[in-house]
Amino acid sequence: MAELQGIDLTVNGQRTQRHVQPRTHLVDFVRGELGLKGSHLGCEHGVCGACTVEVNGKIVRGCLTLAVQADGARVRTIEGLSEDGDVRDLQDAFIRHAALQCGFCTPGMVMAAKELLENKPDASRAEVREWMSGNYCRCTGYHAIVEAICETLALRAGSAGSAGAAGAAGAAVKEAGQ
Ligand code: FES
Ligand code: FES
Repeated sequence: MAELQGIDLTVNGQRTQRHVQPRTHLVDFVRGELGLKGSHLGCEHGVCGACTVEVNGKIVRGCLTLAVQADGARVRTIEGLSEDGDVRDLQDAFIRHAALQCGFCTPGMVMAAKELLENKPDASRAEVREWMSGNYCRCTGYHAIVEAICETLALRAGSAGSAGAAGAAGAAVKEAGQ
């Protein structure tokens, strides 16, 4: 058995020091070692997105990232994201649109959508679909999920109050209605 390796990272704002097997994946670390079960293991091949977590502000596949690679990093899971309240509006939209059934994919969907909301506030419906294409859902279908994200984009743009954002919001709502 390989020697354990010490890691020192911040998870959801809390400094965390542990010794892990070098082969331990980040999603196994947060679930097994820290008890943060919101990130799920689906395909374990980097395909489905259920294991999505944030490392230094960018989403990664937790099943393709080793815990030792996160040494010194800031990691955020769906638990931290929810507690911070950064995506309350998106989560509300998911509920309004019934964008989840079993919920297995939902944490990964929310993590991925959060990055979209921040990086592409004027995303079209087609761009939302493309962005979210790396996250699989086996029961809801994608329509309601895309609806929820488009609505959140539109609402955020509306509350930002700028002409450009409002225009993007209008376009997103229009496209959402197609
Ligand atoms: S479990 Fe990581 S992408 Fe599917
Ligand atoms: S809600 Fe069940 S897999 Fe997406």
